[in-house]
Amino acid sequence: MKQLTADELRETYLGFFEEKGHARISGASVIPDNDPTVLFTTAGMHPLVPYLLGQPHPAGRRLTDVQKCIRTGDIDAVGDSAHLTFFEMLGNWSLGDYFKKEAIAWSFEFLTQRLGFDAKDLYVTVFAGEDGIPKDDEAIALWKEQGLPDSHIFPLPREDNWWGPAGETGPCGPDTEMFIDTGKPACGHECRPGCHCGKFIEIWNNVFMQFNKTAEGKYEPLAQKNVDTGMGVERTVCMLTGKPTVFDTEIFAPIMAKIAELSTKTPDDKDLDIKARRIIADHMRTATFILCDPKGGVKPGNIGANYVLRRLIRRAVRYSRFLGMAEGFTGEIAKVISAKYSHFYPELAEHLEQCIADLDAEEKRFNQTLDKGEAMFNKVAEQLKAHGQNQISGKTAFKLYDTFGFPFEMTCELAEQNNLTVDKDGFEEANRKHQELSRTTSAGSFKAGLQDHSEIVTRMHTATHLLHAALHKVLGEGANQKGSNITPERLRFDFTWPEKMTPEQIKAVEDLVNEKIQEAIPVEKTMTTVEEAKKLGAMALFSSKYGEQVSMYTIGDFSREICGGPHVANTAEVGKFKIVKEQSSSAGVRRIKAVVE
Ligand code: ALA
Repeated sequence: MKQLTADELRETYLGFFEEKGHARISGASVIPDNDPTVLFTTAGMHPLVPYLLGQPHPAGRRLTDVQKCIRTGDIDAVGDSAHLTFFEMLGNWSLGDYFKKEAIAWSFEFLTQRLGFDAKDLYVTVFAGEDGIPKDDEAIALWKEQGLPDSHIFPLPREDNWWGPAGETGPCGPDTEMFIDTGKPACGHECRPGCHCGKFIEIWNNVFMQFNKTAEGKYEPLAQKNVDTGMGVERTVCMLTGKPTVFDTEIFAPIMAKIAELSTKTPDDKDLDIKARRIIADHMRTATFILCDPKGGVKPGNIGANYVLRRLIRRAVRYSRFLGMAEGFTGEIAKVISAKYSHFYPELAEHLEQCIADLDAEEKRFNQTLDKGEAMFNKVAEQLKAHGQNQISGKTAFKLYDTFGFPFEMTCELAEQNNLTVDKDGFEEANRKHQELSRTTSAGSFKAGLQDHSEIVTRMHTATHLLHAALHKVLGEGANQKGSNITPERLRFDFTWPEKMTPEQIKAVEDLVNEKIQEAIPVEKTMTTVEEAKKLGAMALFSSKYGEQVSMYTIGDFSREICGGPHVANTAEVGKFKIVKEQSSSAGVRRIKAVVE
């Protein structure tokens, strides 16, 4: 086997497929462009979906690249030998050009001749047939042609050997997956490629994309037969160099070394020690790639991709406490990751400074939460001991979690250190009750048009009124509200307008809103009737139903709207208003996304 580094493997792969007539294209951002069904790019085929569906690709019908991928579905499994939330995927594609014969022959040639894997360690799985789609006898015959014996070919059901679509809909098909036998003993007589015990490691997948899954759940044959392949860089390097886990490869070496350098203690529990180091290494790598992504825009937050990022950073911070790492460790590790990757991914150098600033801020915020929670925990523990008790009730554990944001696992860890137990069932019960309650409440507040009364959301509600009024002033009366949606991250405002706003118009609107904020105008609330409000010139979505009495918010002579609120008392509280995006929402409707700082 060739002892390749990740750099060498990338080059060997891309070069090999160039020799086979493929154009080398660049990988895409980890933040997908036009696919609301996924938060991150999960596979190399993802940015290529339009071309797999038939649109001609400018670089031709044979493509090869390396794609940064993020898959957080298995985040809780990180810490074992092979699970990662970020990985690099090497891929080659046929867009209606070659099919199974060439794909399998080249896979075999690459693995055995270029990478030097011994064919006796190579195992493959193929689609066994299901739901009217026949067994892939062709793939079996093609593997045999390469000299693979029957005992190395496993036909498996759809659950194992069908890939895609990446999101809800799109191209998919049966696949053939390639595994390396690590030589570890089998976990049982059912152990085979696809078993998760760690004996067989999957390194490459060839998908024969012949179907398109529609929104109705139908599988329609595609106009063209495609090949979509994906080889995991980290796992392949791990197998080539005979390392026990991906964290032992040269890819992770500098990251693991930095973690060791920054650690000031070792937990007694050996498994926890290993797990903590791997989780920090993995999560920091993913967070660094997200924060440095050229497309940008994903910051730690409470929804969607922002929430995933927050969770990754916070989990790393949480585990760093077991190793006694000082505050600021996230930035230190990001620097090492940047140094390791920036020659291939220049964005990791270009955006490093901002990335470190974002990591530091999130780390500080979460440390404060953890410190407060820990102080509360200590009080609870003292009281219990004073009363001769040794169990933390589910209710108390839930309070620590819900009110102080203290993770339940931390309560359990600290309890153990203090010779206390935790009523875990009680915690689950309290959590479940709380979720039911908040579901009911949010269904209720949804009806009332409100969701959140936090300070930031309140400021954005008022900013939305200012924006609406400013659009009227700058564009004219035709710019009317079609919809509004506010989250703690941003406000979104849809309004009728036939064309794209010019940069000058956007700036004029932004400036006008900021002017009104600076004028520090009181926001007045009056209770009135819909009729009265209309007479007073209030704006509202009159198509929606209002009760007899409505609240009307007036901002000087600039804005008057019927609204459920909440609003700040004075525009000065809104902060700085910034339009971050102006785009089309649907025909004749534009959408503005804005933030307040
Ligand atoms: N798209 C295929 C995968 O991710 C190659 O496994």
